Order: sequence, then structure tokens, then C-alpha cells
Amino acid sequence: MPKDHPFADRWNHNTQQYPRVAELIADCPLVLDVGCGEGTLARHLADLGHQVVGIDPDPDVLPTDGESTHFMIGDVTGLPFADASFDAVVSVMVLHQTRLELALVEMRRVLRPGGLLVDIGYARNKGLGEKLRSAADIPQNLIAKIGTTSWEPDTIKMDALLGWAETREAIQGILPGATWQRLPGWRYLSVWRNN
Ligand SMILES: C[S@@+](CC[C@H](N)C(=O)[O-])C[C@H]1O[C@@H](n2cnc3c(N)ncnc32)[C@H](O)[C@@H]1O
Repeated sequence: MPKDHPFADRWNHNTQQYPRVAELIADCPLVLDVGCGEGTLARHLADLGHQVVGIDPDPDVLPTDGESTHFMIGDVTGLPFADASFDAVVSVMVLHQTRLELALVEMRRVLRPGGLLVDIGYARNKGLGEKLRSAADIPQNLIAKIGTTSWEPDTIKMDALLGWAETREAIQGILPGATWQRLPGWRYLSVWRNN
């Protein structure tokens, strides 16, 4: 139930999905959070025992480092890390704001063999089918919000240019075998293991 959700008091369509990210990368000690914003996901993962590097181009939101978190200014399309540096690379609501293919190539490059890439994102509704699918999220969203306190961090937000199907095709083109699913609250989840 939402009241039991770890982010019930900081509820938005991204924090709603943070436990899902944490569950997926539970076995990954060193994590890169691209487009980390003000660092809530990074701190959540650090609290769960991960070492987390957060990178974001916006200096106005980047927080200070913690015991298990390091934050730095940077761009996902040119990551300042050696190949195969991380056990997991995650992004939440970021890739529609940048050059998707280039971002994925970079995220894949810094992921160690066997590591996990987790992308939760958003796309534009293109065509009737995508509009209807997104409309179906409205009742679920109203129910999910019950008992929560909404929270919107002051991060840079942009609308998406690519549609849902276009985004899926682009991701699976760069990352063959990547899973894809729609999540509640106008998000998709794509997971790829670097095998
Ligand atoms: C909607 S916010 C999401 C922030 C955070 N991931 C969350 O879950 O709330 C999008 C973030 O992506 C960042 N961003 C935009 N372009 C980026 C890029 N090229 N590389 C890395 N981060 C980028 C923005 O600065 C912003 O902090």
C-alpha cells in the first residue's frame, strides 16, 4: 500500500519506482546513477549498502557527498569513467532529455561484464494506441497517490520527443535482449545485462 512505500512522504512518478530499481540491482555493489538530480535515489541505494556515484550536468541540484555517495558534474553522453567501471548503471527519467543512443552506448561502455543497466523513463504519446495506453494509467495513478505526500524536486525537466515504441526500438537496437515493460505512472522499465 502507498502509505508503506518508502517514498510515501516524497511521492512522485520517479520515487514511486525507486524500490524497483533497488530490488533489481540488489547484488551490484558499485552503482552509477546518471542524471542523479538532487540525489534521492543515490542516497536510498547507499542506505541499502551500495557505493553510488551520481552524475548530472546541473550544478544547482547536485548534493554534497556522503559516506557512500559521490556526486559529480557530468553528461551521460561523455562519461568520465574507464570501461567496465560499474556493477550497475541506472537512470530514472533522464534519457528522453538527451541523445538516447549515445547515452546508452556510454552507459553500456562503463558497465562491467555481467553488470546490469536499469533505465526507467518516459516517452511521448504518438498515435491513438499510445494515447489510449497512457490514458489507462490515470485511474491507477489516482489510487496510487492515496495516502502519499507529493514532492517535486527542482531538477531540469523536459518533454520527450520520441514515442514509446520508438524509444523501445532505440533501446533494443543498442542493447539487444533488453527487456521492456510499461510501468504504472507513465514510465517504462528497460533492463539489460551485459552478457
Ligand atoms: C527529471 S530529472 C530526474 C532526476 C532523477 N533521476 C530523479 O529520479 O528524480 C532529469 C535529470 O536528468 C539530468 N540530465 C539532463 N540531461 C542530462 C545528460 N545529458 N546527462 C546526465 N544527466 C542529464 C537533469 O539535469 C536532471 O537532473
